[in-house]
Amino acid sequence: MTMRRKLIVGNWKMHGSHQTNAELLEGILGAGPCTADVAVCVPYPYLSEVAVRLAGTPVRWGAQDCSAHEQGAYTGEVSATMLKEFGCRYAIVGHSERRAYHGESDQLVADKAKAVLGRGITPIVCVGETLAEREAGQTEAVVKRQLSAVIHTLTHCCSEIVVAYEPVWAIGTGRTATPEQAQAVHALVRAQLHAATPHSADMTLLYGGSVKPDNAAALFAQPDIDGALVGGASLKAAEFVAIARAADAPLPAAR
Ligand code: 13P
Repeated sequence: MTMRRKLIVGNWKMHGSHQTNAELLEGILGAGPCTADVAVCVPYPYLSEVAVRLAGTPVRWGAQDCSAHEQGAYTGEVSATMLKEFGCRYAIVGHSERRAYHGESDQLVADKAKAVLGRGITPIVCVGETLAEREAGQTEAVVKRQLSAVIHTLTHCCSEIVVAYEPVWAIGTGRTATPEQAQAVHALVRAQLHAATPHSADMTLLYGGSVKPDNAAALFAQPDIDGALVGGASLKAAEFVAIARAADAPLPAAR
């Protein structure tokens, strides 16, 4: 029987300053250990200071994006090799904000995941439908299309990724998917992974979208929800810690 560890990842998005970062990290570290794995994905310029503060602690760190290219004339981009130099354990790829505001295609997201994985960093691949897509009954088709680009590009290595299901309509809106809505999509994601890798039962699937201390435990109680990708609530140490604590509950058995 497989027991998946819970993973709680803070996505700071474009927030922070030297001072607020330091305060936030002190608050997180001061809360002491928890049984879940915990990480923060921070803006590129702060990777260095965050790496210095978190080295030797149980809290890991990562980036919010990564170039698909190894190096070269790509102004403004940051490579996986650079992220590795700063000790990144994770890199988010394909966040809906990047898909929407930067025109990232499913294939580009897959190429980014491949670049990240090639440097030994775990890609957190975000998938999720918009409200219009959900209302049109396209949730399953959209998520499947987004994930299949990644599966086809990574082939057998797709077991090394973390998938975050983030319904776009739940991000920053306070409108969380119900645990049942989230679980239904997570089950589809795991089934799709199961068809591609014998390791699907060991893979970590996160939910993201208005995760707060008061809804986290119900989400984490679902059999295919292994943690959260947290936006707004990850900027407040007490809330982020409370979400991580909600994952301390006994882990459900993998199927
Ligand atoms: P919120 O938690 O602010 O809804 O953001 C979710 C998200 O986009 C995490 O990547």
